[in-house]
Amino acid sequence: MPYNLLKGKKGIIFGALDENSIAWKTAERIHEEGGEFVLTNAPIAMRMGQINQLAEKTGSQIIPADATNLEDLQNLVEKSMEILGGKLDFVLHSIGMSVNVRKGRAYTDQKYDFTTKGWDVSAVSFHKVMQTLYQAEAMNDWGSIVALTYMAAQRTFPDYNDMADNKAYLESIARSFGYFFGKDKKVRVNTISQSPTPTTAGQGVKGFGGFISYADKMSPLGNATALDCANYTVSLFSDLTRKVTMQNLFHDGGFSNTGVSNEVIEKFSEE
Ligand SMILES: NC(=O)c1ccc[n+]([C@@H]2O[C@H](COP(=O)([O-])OP(=O)(O)OC[C@H]3O[C@@H](n4cnc5c(N)ncnc54)[C@H](O)[C@@H]3O)[C@@H](O)[C@H]2O)c1
Repeated sequence: MPYNLLKGKKGIIFGALDENSIAWKTAERIHEEGGEFVLTNAPIAMRMGQINQLAEKTGSQIIPADATNLEDLQNLVEKSMEILGGKLDFVLHSIGMSVNVRKGRAYTDQKYDFTTKGWDVSAVSFHKVMQTLYQAEAMNDWGSIVALTYMAAQRTFPDYNDMADNKAYLESIARSFGYFFGKDKKVRVNTISQSPTPTTAGQGVKGFGGFISYADKMSPLGNATALDCANYTVSLFSDLTRKVTMQNLFHDGGFSNTGVSNEVIEKFSEE
């Protein structure tokens, strides 16, 4: 249900690949709430072409950008301000990729070129995006920047592999850059630590089916869906959360604070 929470707000959304993507659902919800935005993704992801449907549906333009490439990012930020007719109020970083995971390398057998690439795409790109916005003076006062993360940054999930380390780095960047963005530009920076969600990136994790059911049974409210995440992000882009910054916000139906649930105990009980 629309509340017009983002009426008049403008932004950039990274990472909508297909209709399962968290960024896709978020773009739809932001549109419903009156926000306007430019969509962006890596040129290679655009070849699948699905993002065009989202652009059409939300009346948005698309600017390709590899989030690890500073020239692409500068072009994206400059053009977005031209298209939207002013500075930005919100930016969503919904990007993740591990080459080690993709190539089936175990955590104990990483190829470090892959590690470096995944770290650049999944973590450093967040710094690059924010540094580009900061130096271009592209954010309005009381703007809001959100990146997506996962609890493997705090606790070990063996098959999350080197993405766990990338997420820990990403969350640290949110705190570090959040200080400067807050002090100098009144902009807030947060990460949302989302439940496992059936998307292309999510399903890349080995044993994802078991993993998602386990999380669902452990969480008193059940897993948060991509749509739930979109709604939470809308609240963080709205004026109702102006003093929330430098936080890693768990959005997981209670999973992160649950030791064990009755459902899980039952599964392991002998009778
Ligand atoms: N799916 C889950 O279980 C889950 C849980 C917690 C957090 N997250 C995080 O949510 C975010 C979004 O992932 P998703 O689950 O919607 O999957 P997704 O596969 O739909 O989205 C990942 C996006 O990253 C983009 N990307 C990859 N390399 C890029 C680059 N160099 N430049 C620009 N974009 C690039 C992809 O094209 C894709 O659109 C990621 O940060 C992911 O780690 C996902």
